[in-house]
Amino acid sequence: MDYLEKIFRRYGVSPTSILDLGCGTGNHDFLLAHRGYQVTGVDRSPEMLSIARKKAGRGQPRPRFVLAGMESFRLPQTFDAAICMFGGFGYLRRSEAARCFRSVRSHLAPRGPFVFEYWQTTAVRPGIQSWLDCTSEGLQVLRFSEGTFGRRRSILAIDFHFLIVRGRRVVDRFTERHAIRTYTRQEMGSLLRESGLSLAGEFAGTPPGRRGFTRVTASTFRIMAVARRGES
Ligand SMILES: C[S@@+](CC[C@H](N)C(=O)[O-])C[C@H]1O[C@@H](n2cnc3c(N)ncnc32)[C@H](O)[C@@H]1O
Repeated sequence: MDYLEKIFRRYGVSPTSILDLGCGTGNHDFLLAHRGYQVTGVDRSPEMLSIARKKAGRGQPRPRFVLAGMESFRLPQTFDAAICMFGGFGYLRRSEAARCFRSVRSHLAPRGPFVFEYWQTTAVRPGIQSWLDCTSEGLQVLRFSEGTFGRRRSILAIDFHFLIVRGRRVVDRFTERHAIRTYTRQEMGSLLRESGLSLAGEFAGTPPGRRGFTRVTASTFRIMAVARRGES
């Protein structure tokens, strides 16, 4: 949230209304609503939105949640800013990404920024593996991830193998495949231009430190991009 607000300040906007695309269970939306923004979250997953709606606390500011695709949503209002966080943008194929940009364009106030995170092709390390181990509500969640990269279509397919453990007993195990489209910076610039948006800035996804935003290099994996309506 601090990162987002630093971006808003850098681009001279103080939004009231924010549109969150691929909002999932509303992790960012509740925090933004708590900071006083009017938030609308859009996601195509009824399951994620159902969890999001249950998370709303009594008497707490509530985001609005809308079931729709980020490539095809239509809402009866415009927003001062739009965001798409935590890799959500990569779930779109290239043609869907162009449609998403055009929808964002028609839902943004004239100087409104669209802040979205994407993964950079040049920074993908094929064959990457990692472990995650966390405990939540008495359950231990172990996740082993394995990525394979399809160069021709720039798709990073990540297999997440989960083991859910209660005490010493494995209570569930399952695998999910997430196919994420990665982009070079040039490709992203062209895609934005084709869709009537222009790139206002790009920063490394790591939160800014005391020295400010971190510059993007060819090895920056998560890029936080800021786009605005183009001149056309
Ligand atoms: C990695 S999660 C990120 C969730 C949330 N932004 C966060 O940071 O917690 C990606 C989300 O994008 C949603 N998603 C994927 N493709 C979508 C699409 N075409 N339209 C809308 N939502 C989509 C998924 O349902 C999922 O909730």
